[in-house]
Amino acid sequence: MSGMTRRVLLRTALSAGVGLAAGAPLWLGGTGSSSTGVLLRSQRPLPTLYEVPLTVPPVLAPVGRTPSTDYYEILQRPGAAAIFPRVRTTIWGYNGVFPGPTIRARRGRRVVVRHRNHLPVPTVVHLHGGHTPPASDGYPTDLVLPASGWPTMTSMPGMAGMSERDRLAAPTRAERVYTFPTQQRAATLWYHDHRMDFTGASVWRGLAGFHLIGDDEEEELPLPTGDRDIPLMISDRAFDRSGQLLYPNLDPTMRTTPGVSAPYVGGVLGDTILVNGRPWPYAEVAGIRYRLRLLNASNARRYRLRLAPSGELVQIGSDGGLLASPVTHDAIEIAPAERFDVVVDFSHYTPGTHVDLVNDFGDGPTTKVMQFRVGEKVTDTSRVPDTLASIAPLDAPAATRTMFFQGTGTGWTINGQPYDPSQYAAVVRRGSTEIWRLITDMHHPVHLHLVHFQVLSRGLRGPGPYDAGWKDVIDLRPAEEASITMSFDGDPGRYVFHCHNLEHEDMGMMGNFRVV
Ligand code: C2O
Ligand code: CU
Ligand code: CU
Repeated sequence: MSGMTRRVLLRTALSAGVGLAAGAPLWLGGTGSSSTGVLLRSQRPLPTLYEVPLTVPPVLAPVGRTPSTDYYEILQRPGAAAIFPRVRTTIWGYNGVFPGPTIRARRGRRVVVRHRNHLPVPTVVHLHGGHTPPASDGYPTDLVLPASGWPTMTSMPGMAGMSERDRLAAPTRAERVYTFPTQQRAATLWYHDHRMDFTGASVWRGLAGFHLIGDDEEEELPLPTGDRDIPLMISDRAFDRSGQLLYPNLDPTMRTTPGVSAPYVGGVLGDTILVNGRPWPYAEVAGIRYRLRLLNASNARRYRLRLAPSGELVQIGSDGGLLASPVTHDAIEIAPAERFDVVVDFSHYTPGTHVDLVNDFGDGPTTKVMQFRVGEKVTDTSRVPDTLASIAPLDAPAATRTMFFQGTGTGWTINGQPYDPSQYAAVVRRGSTEIWRLITDMHHPVHLHLVHFQVLSRGLRGPGPYDAGWKDVIDLRPAEEASITMSFDGDPGRYVFHCHNLEHEDMGMMGNFRVV
């Protein structure tokens, strides 16, 4: 969408009753929760709590292997999900499933994924948390056009006056091969759609999956593994009368007009909680330690996750992999796109106990997430060591920048600018360390591509309780100032950073940085 269209759109949205009048946005915490956004209610009775078993996304088998590389193929296509009894809910999925298949990668082995687009709209694949060269990083205008056809740019009117955005874009037709070098630590990554202006709508439809990297350092630790290492993708959705996904897009075909209807410009919150695509599922667990890889794949919802009856969530990892040492939490606050790797010891519960994973930031049904049904105690040889990994401090910064994330009367902005693919918010030297001061007006989960960072401070205090380790998303709260530091090792080129509230991202809160 051009800057002009975007501005007009947002002005229309804002004047339609959700103003930012006198700097007091009405969409701030619209549901009494601690999320920025407005609740979209389902038009039919919600699924029953704890009625369906948790499922774990299938692990994708490579189609080829060489001494250095694993090759995969993924077909992006519509599929059917079982969310309500006797209803087939149409989703868009990687291989037609939501969540998409899990890629299990290994540090030092290159991963090459050929994605084919059998959906009716263009897509873009981004490996979130990946240390990926620009051509495979899923730049928002590097579209994979549908195999079924799409009006190409060259057929668009006004080629002579082609915008900088379209000139820099690198679309491909029907398929694209993404190469992930995987020279990075073991970590819980995820891949998701990143199409310019339509990321929120595409992810809501189901385009998200896990990409887990393992390495020797992690394997040497006595942590729970195998079927006691469970990725949990938590997301919220809403459904129409017939049980189909509901999203307030201005253009439900997602072909031309981006954006959501007026009340939802601050974020779309669903009333149904899905874990690995299943509504409020239950999982049978043994009385033993489990490693749970929590991912908040919601568009805008923040959660405060807690076990009830209470139990410890021992955090061993963050967005960028293992922490230096474990951190024990009673509850975990998780913003969109963040990952928390936790160990829970179910042997502390009497066999037969039902342990709910609850959300203190929810309201009504969204206060519940899933249930663990604890079975008999079994012998446990796993444990959580006091030292998990070594995390090197970064060099002294070569530069300090300030980035202000703000909703204005005309849109979501960074330093007052709505996203423009031809502008650079920062040009950084390859390999140099920088400090970025991030400032907000309201909740913004800020994410940088290419790098992982360390949180140095929040206001006058040190890092918060959820900031340990290597991060690629920071959960910034209203009127907060935080400093992060990172080293820009990576291939030269153009990358984005943005708010991971996907409605904010789609409506302007994104910027470019260039590594030179
Ligand atoms: Cu998950 Cu550009 O992000
Ligand atoms: Cu990312
Ligand atoms: Cu935001």
